[in-house]
Amino acid sequence: NKDKELTIAIDGWSSCGKSTLAKALAKELNYVFVDSGAMYRGAALHAMRNNLVSRNHVDINRIIASLSDVKISFKNNAKGKAELYLNGKNVEKEIRTIEVSNSVSSVAKIKEVRLFLVKQQRIMGINGGVVMDGRDIGSIVFPLAELKIFMTADPDIRAQRRYDELIAQGDKITLEEVKANLIERDEMDSTREESPLTQVDDAIVIDNSNLTPEQQLVKALALVKKIKKV
Ligand code: DC
Repeated sequence: NKDKELTIAIDGWSSCGKSTLAKALAKELNYVFVDSGAMYRGAALHAMRNNLVSRNHVDINRIIASLSDVKISFKNNAKGKAELYLNGKNVEKEIRTIEVSNSVSSVAKIKEVRLFLVKQQRIMGINGGVVMDGRDIGSIVFPLAELKIFMTADPDIRAQRRYDELIAQGDKITLEEVKANLIERDEMDSTREESPLTQVDDAIVIDNSNLTPEQQLVKALALVKKIKKV
């Protein structure tokens, strides 16, 4: 069926353009875009505000107990860009800070946090017509997704891109700090016990070290077209 709305999973390493591609693809196909990482960032922000997590401490039991107070949602802004809300407040800016980036992997490795968010992610994609990016979308959230993309890029290029983004929004940070965060997160996210980042067998790899966002979109659209024909 050519008009069938697909489920598209985009997984990969930190800061390699997953959300940029997912967003562009969703726009092109008129699908829903879900940035699952933003949801983990929202959960981490809540834990941070309650002093349940910092760079070298994580209070797993109290984080689990406080999940009933965590309401995560997305709402489009005036420009149509989805932004994250935590308990009804827009936290889109706050979840992108380096402080949250430094704590999020410690919260995302907690099984109960994952079950809590995966349940919501599955509901968001229940009818197809969704592009979701993250670390475990093709493996755990939507193992039956019709299209799975695994994104990767050279770590130096990823660090530089993320650094440029943070500097542009006025953050005071060094390239070394950004790179250290990426390396540490990738290590934690890919070695944790609960649904670690993995490249599933049926994923198609896109290495975007030398591809513009437009070139990545062209590639992804070609993959969608191929699937719709079979
Ligand atoms: O995509 P991101 O960098 O904004 O994600 C932030 C963190 O959340 C990432 O370091 C790991 C975690 N995450 C996860 O464990 N599973 C997902 N599906 C998405 C993100």
